[in-house]
Amino acid sequence: MRILILGATGLSGTAITLAALRRGHAVVAVHRGRSDTLPELDDPRLLDLVHDRAQGHAALLANGPYDAIVDVSARVPAWVADAVRVLDVGSPWWVQLSSVSAYADQNVRGPRESDPVATFDDPVVELAACTDPHVEFSYDWYAPAKAAAERLLLEAVQRQSRATVLRPVLITGAHDWTWRTPRWLARVARGGTVLAPPADAPVQVIDAQDLAELVLQAIEERIPGVYNAAPARGSQTIGSLLAACVQVVRDAGIEPATVVHAPRELLAEHDVEPWSQLPAWIPPDMECDAMVTADTTLLEEVFGFEARPLTETLAPVLRWVQGVTDPPEDPLDPAREREVLAAC
Ligand SMILES: NC(=O)c1ccc[n+]([C@@H]2O[C@H](COP(=O)([O-])OP(=O)(O)OC[C@H]3O[C@@H](n4cnc5c(N)ncnc54)[C@H](OP(=O)(O)O)[C@@H]3O)[C@@H](O)[C@H]2O)c1
Repeated sequence: MRILILGATGLSGTAITLAALRRGHAVVAVHRGRSDTLPELDDPRLLDLVHDRAQGHAALLANGPYDAIVDVSARVPAWVADAVRVLDVGSPWWVQLSSVSAYADQNVRGPRESDPVATFDDPVVELAACTDPHVEFSYDWYAPAKAAAERLLLEAVQRQSRATVLRPVLITGAHDWTWRTPRWLARVARGGTVLAPPADAPVQVIDAQDLAELVLQAIEERIPGVYNAAPARGSQTIGSLLAACVQVVRDAGIEPATVVHAPRELLAEHDVEPWSQLPAWIPPDMECDAMVTADTTLLEEVFGFEARPLTETLAPVLRWVQGVTDPPEDPLDPAREREVLAAC
């Protein structure tokens, strides 16, 4: 098949591009040229195209027609509207990467695909986001934008059952500049004692390579509908994530840090911030349970999905982290970490 990937570099796009090539497809890989993550490939089936979606999608028709279009960078709904209007020629299969953040109520445990999605508070912002491709994107309207992007695609092509929307939880892999999962690997590899959240706190991290396999399965088997994209609810915890970090760090020949899981109350007393300072951790009082408890019943039933073990996910992430020459600062200052550890 000939597949157009809109956002073919970075964390998910690179994994999807490489998986598509591995499975014998021809790929037109579109990106702005900011993240230089595609390896040097002497592959005649790959066309690497630098193009900004804010400039519209008509220029991409020249390299079509496409059997499938994967919208990785679907965060400005106006881009999605234009892409569907211009590129839906010859009945391609569409796959869009949405997010579990699209759910209206982020405090729900186990959000299901049929649950309501977020809406814009401000109609002026909504109009700009949905019609102006040059609108300045803001994370303030990330959730309603993801929901609107889904709606614009589904209204246009789902009537002909030609679209799959995947709603991933936290993604990780090589090129994970969110530095959430990589932070834990970097911290464990630094040694000493690492301050961690309660071991039984739920986590959901999907491997970008698993996500890429889901995208290709959706295209090849023509699987329509909307699906949470996550490891089985309850299958990962902070404890299993940290244990897997320790194992892959040790397997890489590095003496890992000792992990100390602190009680939630103690972390709160010391103003340690979940998610930002201790990444991937969502305590119940943060009212964001949806992000770590996505229901995967439908994904398992329809795709037969089973996430690869965390150690398999984390080993290549560690190799990438080790090659990062200018890593982000640790979000938890080492002096503060020592201070809280002393109180444990
Ligand atoms: N990361 C997560 O944990 C997470 C979780 C849930 C859902 N998601 C969703 O999953 C998708 C992929 O996320 P990611 O973190 O893998 O993305 P990413 O690493 O930031 O990569 C985004 C890709 O889109 C391209 N892109 C961005 N703006 C573009 C434009 N105007 N024109 C052309 N290409 C453009 C980027 O190319 P350049 O670098 O050249 O701009 C890059 O190839 C997104 O839709 C995101 O909302 C992400």
